[in-house]
Amino acid sequence: MRIVLLGGAGYLGTVATRHLTGLGHHVTVVDGLIYQRGDDPARLLPTTSAFIHADLRDPQALRRAVSGADAVVHLGGLVGEPACALDERLAVELNYASPVLAAMEARAAGVAHYVFFSSCSVYGSHDGTVDEDTTPNPLGIYARTKVLAERTLADLMDGRALTVLRLATVHGRSPRQRLDSVANRMTAQALATGRIPLNGGGQRRPLVHIADVADTLAQVLTTPEGHRTFNVGADRENYTIAEIAATVQQAVPGCRIDAGPERDEADARDYRTSFARLATAFPGACPTSLAQGVREVADAVQAKELDHPDLPEYDNLAGLKNSLAEGRISALADDDCTRLHADYATAPWSPR
Ligand SMILES: NC(=O)c1ccc[n+]([C@@H]2O[C@H](COP(=O)([O-])OP(=O)(O)OC[C@H]3O[C@@H](n4cnc5c(N)ncnc54)[C@H](O)[C@@H]3O)[C@@H](O)[C@H]2O)c1
Repeated sequence: MRIVLLGGAGYLGTVATRHLTGLGHHVTVVDGLIYQRGDDPARLLPTTSAFIHADLRDPQALRRAVSGADAVVHLGGLVGEPACALDERLAVELNYASPVLAAMEARAAGVAHYVFFSSCSVYGSHDGTVDEDTTPNPLGIYARTKVLAERTLADLMDGRALTVLRLATVHGRSPRQRLDSVANRMTAQALATGRIPLNGGGQRRPLVHIADVADTLAQVLTTPEGHRTFNVGADRENYTIAEIAATVQQAVPGCRIDAGPERDEADARDYRTSFARLATAFPGACPTSLAQGVREVADAVQAKELDHPDLPEYDNLAGLKNSLAEGRISALADDDCTRLHADYATAPWSPR
């Protein structure tokens, strides 16, 4: 199968590319390497994949890239609320305009299947257990851009296969490592400082291992079917933040949890997620535990595979600040982006 991964040189994309090429698929990665952390696609990606350096908001580059593809996967977003809050217009362009422009090109090129990487963050804060039919409750820019993209893509891909993957928070090792998501960050902090800062810690979060995300992607790609939305993870991998800290503490003997009160600016996301739909469609999906992901990140830090785990190169927020300050990325505000920004500016954030 000919698969185009938009944003495929990132944390998830590099692992997905290796997995998909290993299964014999032909993979083309399109990425602008927007964090410019010395990312070298030749080092990050298998030699059997193709690489195109381009901006995912450029319709002409998207048109060339998706031509002849069997499936197009968009995983080129700006991840997490802190990065999105740095520049809301840029966040809307990367997380909303880009996937919509790519879907338009994919549709025009007759691509049979479009896959969009969304997030369980769309659920925000909920009592009880959320599933794919729960009305989203987006609490910030990141989740709002994802909800809006999901809705517009569903309209755009009417009559074609569209799969939306709402990922749990990802952990584990990647050629393009990120250490800024909760489990990876706590693991690196525990090893670097002997401490795990924990403020409050009662909020619930689902987690998923990076290899399980790549495998789920491979499975959905081989079964294109109508419009589907899956939460990606496993029921037993719902944790409170305090439980994540305890799991890290077990993997890093001697480290201490520094428990303090909840901070006012704390991330308010709090939900328990059902992954029953994925487990029914793909029995045995997402088998890897948090403890395994923590172990492999800890092993990589201890083996000095990650030279200085506290460096900004492992942190998208710091990387984006540098890119913005040095003018390497900015909102384009061209005609397409301006038109699509208007959708965001006028979106009713109450349930549709
Ligand atoms: N990592 C997680 O925990 C997680 C959880 C839920 C959802 N997701 C979603 O999965 C996707 C991938 O996440 P990730 O952790 O791999 O992120 P990442 O930041 O590591 O990768 C994103 C890649 O996209 C590229 N990119 C972004 N905008 C671009 C543009 N306009 N032009 C060219 N390249 C561009 C970046 O250079 C980067 O290589 C995102 O859409 C994210 O929202 C991730």
